Amino acid sequence: MKVFAPCVVKFFGEHAVVYGKPAIAAAIDKGVYVECEEGGELRVETVAPLSEAVYYPERGRVEGVGVGRFFAYVDAALEVARERWGDLRATFKIKSDFPPSVGLATSAAVSVALLKAYSQCVGARPSPEELARLGHSVELKVQGIASPMDTAVSAMGGLLKIWPSPFRAEQIGAELPQFYVLLLPRRGTTGEIVADVRAKLQRRPSLKAVVEAIGEVVEEAHKCLVAGDLACVGELMEINNWLLGALGVVDSRVVQALEILRPFVYGGKISGAGRGGAVLILPRDGDAVEKILTAMNYAYYKVSIYRGGA
Ligand code: PMV
Repeated sequence: MKVFAPCVVKFFGEHAVVYGKPAIAAAIDKGVYVECEEGGELRVETVAPLSEAVYYPERGRVEGVGVGRFFAYVDAALEVARERWGDLRATFKIKSDFPPSVGLATSAAVSVALLKAYSQCVGARPSPEELARLGHSVELKVQGIASPMDTAVSAMGGLLKIWPSPFRAEQIGAELPQFYVLLLPRRGTTGEIVADVRAKLQRRPSLKAVVEAIGEVVEEAHKCLVAGDLACVGELMEINNWLLGALGVVDSRVVQALEILRPFVYGGKISGAGRGGAVLILPRDGDAVEKILTAMNYAYYKVSIYRGGA
């Protein structure tokens, strides 16, 4: 039995969503696959681009390479699953389309997919809303600070508006526009970057206005998405990106990439925690953007490009 949980692109509102503002994000057709085979000792197998390893959670033993912080999410997801559905002896095989920590919510997708696989293996059928809630508790256990955005979108799918507290998630009811994602190497994990932003907000109370402004951008963007006004969506993506710059998460590589693409796009911004990672681009002319991204990739970025949406 195999389950899938999608990765997530953030259209508007990341970081500010940690401080109570709404956000808009979409599930994509790539993500994390988990297979569950009942019986034997509890084992978790992973392959690239995650770690290449076999993990025995009960013995805390890992055989393999490239483990990093990844198994912290596995441990937390298994703990949450055990508390909710009871013990299970099984082998879980985890595959992912993207590596962790690139801004596409791979860790949320791992958490949601593992919870889904565990529940199906024990014969439970949790609702997407319950998976969203349990997935969020996994991220909180690992990161300390995390909004419910990524786990909600990975569990529920679609193009969602998320209000973090009290938690609510609603489909926007608009077609997902065509977009590209450029993946740059990222400096720091989500947890580290979110902690840096928190420290900066505490140090500089004037930045509260930036968080407020991001919240307002999300409300405007919601209207533009519903109206299918891509010029407006793109302009607001640019504004959101400059506001995220004030929080210290948009580095010069992202600014430079967006500058090169400017004539061919409605707008672009980081997706996720930032400092490189995923850069979301709304093309005016998809063919031109694809050619430029490919050229940039060969020239100096050495990154992958993902195309999604309509
Ligand atoms: O970089 P990602 O995909 O882990 O996304 C992080 C999104 C933040 O808003 C920065 C944090 C959060 O918990 O919502």
